[in-house]
Amino acid sequence: MTDTTILENLKQKALGELQAVESAEALEVWRVTYLGKKSELTAVLRGLGTLPVEERKAVGALANVVREELETSLDARETAVSDAHMGVAGDIDITLPGRTWLAGRMHPVTRVVNEITDIFSSLGFSIVEGPEIELDRYNFDALNIPKEHPARDTMQTFWVDDGAEKDDRHVLLRTHTSPMQVRFMEKYKEPPFRIIVPGRVYRYEATDASHLPMFHQVEGLMVDKDVSFADLKGALYEFARRFFGPNRKVRFRCDFFPFVEPGVEMSIECASCLGAGCRVCGNSGWLEILGAGMVHPNVLKGVGIDPEIYTGFAFGIGVERLPMLRYGVDDIRLFYSNDLRFLRQF
Ligand code: FA5
Repeated sequence: MTDTTILENLKQKALGELQAVESAEALEVWRVTYLGKKSELTAVLRGLGTLPVEERKAVGALANVVREELETSLDARETAVSDAHMGVAGDIDITLPGRTWLAGRMHPVTRVVNEITDIFSSLGFSIVEGPEIELDRYNFDALNIPKEHPARDTMQTFWVDDGAEKDDRHVLLRTHTSPMQVRFMEKYKEPPFRIIVPGRVYRYEATDASHLPMFHQVEGLMVDKDVSFADLKGALYEFARRFFGPNRKVRFRCDFFPFVEPGVEMSIECASCLGAGCRVCGNSGWLEILGAGMVHPNVLKGVGIDPEIYTGFAFGIGVERLPMLRYGVDDIRLFYSNDLRFLRQF
């Protein structure tokens, strides 16, 4: 066999084998076999000196062409093997940097609702929920607010079109969570009761830095023998102490709600101005966070509970104002503006 034929055969064999090579180790073996010092190709090149001049030129030129071709093919195969190994050849390129998954977080209002329910749960209150679309019987009448009562005007109502005449509608978006006091007592009848009711409420009123048309309340109700106003104050002070810390000033003042007697409102020193007065607190230095009082005997009677035997207290906390007071947020509307720069702070 001439050297030329040897080189041609060698090339065919080497390139054929190279296509089957799948790993870096096998590539190295291939390289040593076909391009190494002891390879047939090197032997041919070394033997060139012994050939006649004409033949030497032809064999030398061919040997160099073969060597270059083998080297080029080796490079290409190395890249292919390495890419396959890295996953580039498939659908997934694992060499790309990973994607960052932005973890969501709980809305500050949801977190505060959870915090309030945790505090009252630890004081022995159970959590119940009620409908946001309500009957006026529960939202008003059973709470000692008959039709034509002026207290209805203070809770500007979104009425639901139930087909009735405008002034004779009975379905509404609840204006407070207090209807659940009645629904719960009506259903379970026998005190003792100790519940809290978190949920959304709606009022048809103009928005400003401390008012929204949709906000959250957490209702509280405790009914048992010998429940007194001192129990109400104790529960609310404990709540304020745990939520705001021991140093925040708390104020109780008389207020009127037809479904409690006596009625009070509780305010917390304004966090934005620390009592000096600002637009958040309407320059009063205080922000009202809840209404409360002793359950009115008419409400108890209405659900068949004897007010001579049982007494109770109730409260309704305005949720959004709590994170305002705690974090010094000066506009309640920020909670629902969906501005992530704001929401990510909590
Ligand atoms: C009530 O809704 C009564 N149901 C509370 C109550 C329950 C009294 C049980 C007695 C016994 P009021 O309308 O004041 O009361 O609302 C309660 C709290 O909700 C307020 O103190 C305030 O913190 C919050 N609040 C009221 N209106 C708005 C509003 N438009 N936007 C945001 N928060 C509000």
